[in-house]
Amino acid sequence: MKILAIDTSCDETSAAITDGRRVLSNVIYSQVLIHKKWGGVVPSLAKRAHEERIDFVIEDSLRLYIYNKKNLLTSELASRCLSRPSTSCLSWESEGSLRRSFAQTSTRYTNFFYYLLNDINYLAVTQGPGLAVALEVGIEKAKQLAEKFKKKLIAVNHMEGHIYSCFVQNRQGNPPVEFKFPYLALLISGGHTQLFIFKNHLDYRLLGETIDDAAGEALDKAAKMLELGYPGGAVIERLATEVNNRDFFKFPRPMLKSANLNFSFSGLKTSFYYFIRKLSLNQRNQLIKKLASSYQEAVFDTLIFKTEQAIKKTAIKHVVVGGGVSANLYLRKKLRQLIKKYRGEILFPPFKYLTGDNAAMIGVAAYYKAKKDMVVKDVTKLDRVPRLGFG
Ligand code: KG4
Ligand code: ZN
Repeated sequence: MKILAIDTSCDETSAAITDGRRVLSNVIYSQVLIHKKWGGVVPSLAKRAHEERIDFVIEDSLRLYIYNKKNLLTSELASRCLSRPSTSCLSWESEGSLRRSFAQTSTRYTNFFYYLLNDINYLAVTQGPGLAVALEVGIEKAKQLAEKFKKKLIAVNHMEGHIYSCFVQNRQGNPPVEFKFPYLALLISGGHTQLFIFKNHLDYRLLGETIDDAAGEALDKAAKMLELGYPGGAVIERLATEVNNRDFFKFPRPMLKSANLNFSFSGLKTSFYYFIRKLSLNQRNQLIKKLASSYQEAVFDTLIFKTEQAIKKTAIKHVVVGGGVSANLYLRKKLRQLIKKYRGEILFPPFKYLTGDNAAMIGVAAYYKAKKDMVVKDVTKLDRVPRLGFG
């Protein structure tokens, strides 16, 4: 069952072709360079960038799919593709020349829309949560294509996609992970921090979530205070590694005493703000690695503590972790240690591109919805839901 999936929930324009859990092609156009100088996502710029790129990204996903299908990747192109974690993940900026090579040769072979008509069974699109003006672009495009090519359309919750990202496979069907329900799902992104029980396919129960900032947002805000650029999570990770991820300053760990499974990071952020305000620029620069490391430790301790509480409360020892922050290798190590203590199992997105926003995970979540015929009844009425929840 082949699905063309689209995600424009925030600052990445992405399209993918999936077949069950396998990704046949996935293209991501990241807007990071556009938003970087503003220190965060600017909605009007995000909207414009999505509008400018959506057609190219969809065409590229079809082009890559066709090349893979026809084995048309020349050895040079194939090896450049294969050297990436997934054979099918392209980032627009870094693969400029690859894109140009595709573009030059592909016109000989392709009428993309012939393939869309004949090979693709369903369309899928992220309905929410996300930035309203960004979601709209993907949804409008999906509606147009669904009507033009007479395809059924599946609306997917972006966070559901992040859960399924742990089960996405490459073109060869690797890794061959089986589902072992029920799972605890920890979702940690720039906009969300949530704990769910993932009982069975498309069956979730929300256990707790952040009452203010998300984990990724907390890292991004600290990075901004330290003038480390946007997004900050990966920079903080690198700085912390250089001082062996030690905890020098013991910033507060909010909500650890509360009995519920909610998170809060704004108190930590405020305490960090007042702490660094006391430092001179010189001191701050000297301490930057220690500050990054200690702050990261406080954020991660909270995540670990709440996950452990959830394991104790539910007795579920199989855990899946999704969202941008799950790219952090130190956090992965800490979570693995926790799960080992309970003799459980933990899954992360198997390829790095699956930690951030991507359409592949949307296509895979849509596959399970397609199997239950959970399609949009009236395509013309489909609308974005920026605060879409589930579970
Ligand atoms: O899932 P995502 O790409 O977008 C949203 O849906 O929000 O998550 C983005 C978040 C950002 O806050 C970013 O700082 C964080 O993921 N992030 C990381 C790392 N890479 C990205 N946080 C910690 N360590 C990383 N290596
Ligand atoms: Zn996301």
